Amino acid sequence: MAVCVGIDIGTSGAKALAIAPDGRILSSASASYPCAHPRPLWSEQHPDDWWNGTVKVVRAVVKQAKLKPADVAAIGLSGQMHGSVFLDKAGKVIRPAILWNDQRTAVECDEIESRAGGRKALIQMVANPALTGFTAPKILWLRNTEPRNFARTAKVLLPKDEIRRRLTGEFATEVSDASGTLLLDVVNRRWSKKLLEALDLDGALLPPCVESEEVTGTLTAEAAKLLGLTTNCKVVGGAGDCAAGAVGNGIVKPGLLATSIGTSGVVFVHCDQPQFDPQGRLHTFCHAVRGKWHMMGVILSAGGSLQWFQDALCASAGKSGKRSIVSFDELCSEAAATPPGALGLQFLPYLAGERTPHLDPHARGALVGMTLAHTRGHIVRAIMEGVTFALRDSLAIIEELGVPVKQVRAGGGGSKNPFWRQMQADVFGKAVNAMAADEGPAYGVALLAAVGAGHYKDVTEACTATVRVAEGAKPQAKTHKTYDALFPAFQELYVALRPHFARLGA
Ligand code: XUL
Repeated sequence: MAVCVGIDIGTSGAKALAIAPDGRILSSASASYPCAHPRPLWSEQHPDDWWNGTVKVVRAVVKQAKLKPADVAAIGLSGQMHGSVFLDKAGKVIRPAILWNDQRTAVECDEIESRAGGRKALIQMVANPALTGFTAPKILWLRNTEPRNFARTAKVLLPKDEIRRRLTGEFATEVSDASGTLLLDVVNRRWSKKLLEALDLDGALLPPCVESEEVTGTLTAEAAKLLGLTTNCKVVGGAGDCAAGAVGNGIVKPGLLATSIGTSGVVFVHCDQPQFDPQGRLHTFCHAVRGKWHMMGVILSAGGSLQWFQDALCASAGKSGKRSIVSFDELCSEAAATPPGALGLQFLPYLAGERTPHLDPHARGALVGMTLAHTRGHIVRAIMEGVTFALRDSLAIIEELGVPVKQVRAGGGGSKNPFWRQMQADVFGKAVNAMAADEGPAYGVALLAAVGAGHYKDVTEACTATVRVAEGAKPQAKTHKTYDALFPAFQELYVALRPHFARLGA
């Protein structure tokens, strides 16, 4: 049996799933790991945690589906984008990886723009402005702040590419994830020599960059033994989690748009040609489909906002020392029992600063409009509505740029919840489809692996053969009207609070 495995190195944990050549899911497993916030608006993880999680979930899917070692033909890798793994020349991790939602690099973003000759010149080289979460500013931060660590750095890898190195012994990345480093010439799909020179960075720091379905190596004997697989098992390029999730949802043609609610929130649209937001609020990156691109808006704390609320305010240690926590399902049903608009309570989901549309590392979360009448259910509803309004900000920019949107497909953990999917339909005023197999990025890269293993001619053929849209949510006229009236208030709140955020950060 020629099985393919998809692995996703997420922010809250690792996930793996095994698929048959026709796309049927045979088994899936996940394992969580911690995320450190050593200072407000900083986020770090250790690559060893990703690796231990990977070994655990791959072994679990092999066991669950009763696979023999030779059954697994290929692996696809996906992961949180933009994270920086700094390696010395012996391949040792120098310091914890700095993640996509870390905001420490505002100074370096200015440095990049000025070395590039201004924002416009930078966008011409790499299609995007310098944003704090991207990888290049983190490399400059290391050079500016931890010069000894920088001097030891021989390679910088993205999270999933560090897992590739441990699986295959090879250094490699692929175009979709490389786009988020800010060092890729996105239009020509190769590293930007021009920007590397302007930043005085050695191109040897970066691994070779391939297309997403290309084979980058096979498992080492050690990795094969550890995972219960063979050294014939191929590892394909894979994709950053946004492009991987989009492949898993079949967003490989014009007119298709996906929203995803994981830790981050993403609004992703396929483009046949590179298209740009002149204000840089949307990212323009290579798609995991050869010769195609995508635009996306990213909000940093989507499911992450609800996760924060649950961890910070709905958990208690208990007398026996056993931690008890109110479940998401319970919180969502409390929210569903409250009216749209949460009795005038609004939430700004900027707990980790914000990218789209504000590009503001100093933005903070806010809950505005509390009264004695508000309960926990109202607060949870306000959080979910605030996140959904933030997704609508991205959708509005996409439509304003004239990118066609014929169908919206919702994915990610948050969208599995029918209440949140219905809320998306009501806030956007559009039908929002669910997916038959909503397995996120791991499914998308398992399909890329199936292309690499030769089961399909290309990614589009793989999606047509396997991805099915399920029943969706239709907007309810009355609720949509309520949300339409509240959306401008949501947008104005940020503008009013912006000067305070800057002061609080100082
Ligand atoms: C995308 C982004 C996030 C991470 C989270 O630009 O930063 O979606 O990839 O996993």
